[in-house]
Amino acid sequence: MVKFSLLLAQIGVILTLNEFDVVQSMSRVHVPVGNDGDGQYSAATKGCFDVIQAASPLVLDEISKQYPQQRSTGSNAYHIADYGTADAGTSLGLLSKMVKQIRRISGVEDKEVVLHYEDQLTNEWKSVFNHVLGNIEVRDAYDNLVESPMGLGNVFVEACGVTFHKQCYPSESIDFGVSFTAMHWLSTSPASLKGTPAMHAVRCLSPAVEERDQAAHDWSCILEARSKELVKGGRFVCVNFCCSEEGYFLGQTDSGVSMWDSFEASWNKLKEQGLIDEDERLGVSFPSYYRKNSELLEGIANVPSLRVSSIAEKIVRCPYRELWRSGKTGMTARQYAEWFVPTTRTWSHSTFKEALREGREDKEEVLEQFWENYMDLVELDPSSHGMDYVHNYIVLEKL
Ligand SMILES: C[S@@+](CC[C@H](N)C(=O)[O-])C[C@H]1O[C@@H](n2cnc3c(N)ncnc32)[C@H](O)[C@@H]1O
Repeated sequence: MVKFSLLLAQIGVILTLNEFDVVQSMSRVHVPVGNDGDGQYSAATKGCFDVIQAASPLVLDEISKQYPQQRSTGSNAYHIADYGTADAGTSLGLLSKMVKQIRRISGVEDKEVVLHYEDQLTNEWKSVFNHVLGNIEVRDAYDNLVESPMGLGNVFVEACGVTFHKQCYPSESIDFGVSFTAMHWLSTSPASLKGTPAMHAVRCLSPAVEERDQAAHDWSCILEARSKELVKGGRFVCVNFCCSEEGYFLGQTDSGVSMWDSFEASWNKLKEQGLIDEDERLGVSFPSYYRKNSELLEGIANVPSLRVSSIAEKIVRCPYRELWRSGKTGMTARQYAEWFVPTTRTWSHSTFKEALREGREDKEEVLEQFWENYMDLVELDPSSHGMDYVHNYIVLEKL
């Protein structure tokens, strides 16, 4: 416990000890890849820059609607929370734009702004600070250098590792909350798909009831917590993986082959290769849920202090496949496979690992073969492999 407290003190995370057990079980749901401090998530997840870019006009427009407005409580600093930030690289550019917009609209050139980064206890907190402090440079999918808001001056940074399913900040203290591609992760893993060939609730022909119910409960908790944290007139822009009206979802749209089919083929091949048994083959069950618009709206109807300003679905095309198809990468098919596949790995590796029998010491070797199988598949026909992003973009206002 002493070690744990020291770690928290080092990384500046706000967490009380009686929440330790909750966070321990939750942190098994999504585990970051790479070494903390290296910023591997942002280096390998270029599509998320585009998703945030797509939400930027919405966010900046909402800030302009917030003024003129007097804060009802607290100091005059403007507080922004980025829930499920990962290593903070992908949202860096948007947060810089938000700081500039707040200063422009408020007419206060040096207005103090506080950035509250939020993620799990096990997050790459060193990478967060390396990105924000400019120790590691951040580049988007098109190799453009991304500016850090710290460089704008009078910007303060804090981190919180509690979980966004709970209240993370004091009541009426947050002016603007954003969350990108994070709140589809469930607070616990129902694992109801173990023993079936489906790996994700969204791929089930009949509803995965346990995941669906957990997601509804979690969404209620998320909304209750945000409704407490936001100031009156505060906004929450939540950009979440969804199952669209057309039935599209992450990695499965009208373009190319389904990423999920490729996952299944590459995983099943491990059994043919004698590396996993039948239980392990059927043992993958993602602890996440892609809510439909109707499911989001049902939850919001129960929280009278939140008003829906807008809700829309959007597909952001896989930047890796788009660049490959444009012929501008100069890569071989193999190089494309090695470039693209890690973007699917950043968020899924830990779930595949969970499917392997407890006690196996060769888990990482087996998983390396799995990723090899996937890359072999991509190499055969690169232009049909990508990971399109399908999100709902919802704007909530605290009344
Ligand atoms: C795909 S990443 C998205 C990161 C970033 N927002 C972006 O758009 O690039 C999802 C993030 O959600 C975080 N996450 C998952 N469950 C969480 C929870 N219960 N509380 C806080 N963060 C969570 C993960 O740790 C991960 O960093």
